[in-house]
Amino acid sequence: MSRPALLFVCLGNICRSPMAEGALRAAADKAGIDVFVDSVGTGSWHIGEPPDPRAQDEMKRHGVSIAGLKGRQINAEDYRRFTHIFALDDDNLEVIRQRAPSDASAEIMLLLDMVEERQGQPVADPYFGGADGFARTWEDVSAAADALVAKFRR
Ligand code: 4NP
Repeated sequence: MSRPALLFVCLGNICRSPMAEGALRAAADKAGIDVFVDSVGTGSWHIGEPPDPRAQDEMKRHGVSIAGLKGRQINAEDYRRFTHIFALDDDNLEVIRQRAPSDASAEIMLLLDMVEERQGQPVADPYFGGADGFARTWEDVSAAADALVAKFRR
């Protein structure tokens, strides 16, 4: 198999998907597997911005820095360049599918479909809530990262 290239997609690319990116980078480093990882938003509001400070703080608590990431919006090339595109929730999954170019080659799915007993579930949007929402996001994205490392280690 060629090197996996994994793209995580949420709405703003400042909370959930950069946390998923950071969790996967950390898990892949620890496991010694070679994957290309990035994250984007379907929305354009936060292009060029670093992750939300609450997302950065939650990741820091788990020893992962995402301070250097910058918001970006999904584009047509992403569908050819990445082998897998993971939507953090159903709304974003639908938008990703709608915007797919005819020559898209990436496999597109819901992130928690990778996690046993979580199939079909969304990673809830923590943006409008409190810090506990970000702790939940960490639980979800780190479970997904572990499942992805197990999948791509084989
Ligand atoms: P994310 O969270 O999709 O997890 O990055 C959000 C960030 C920003 C907004 C919504 C959700 N917003 O409406 O600006």
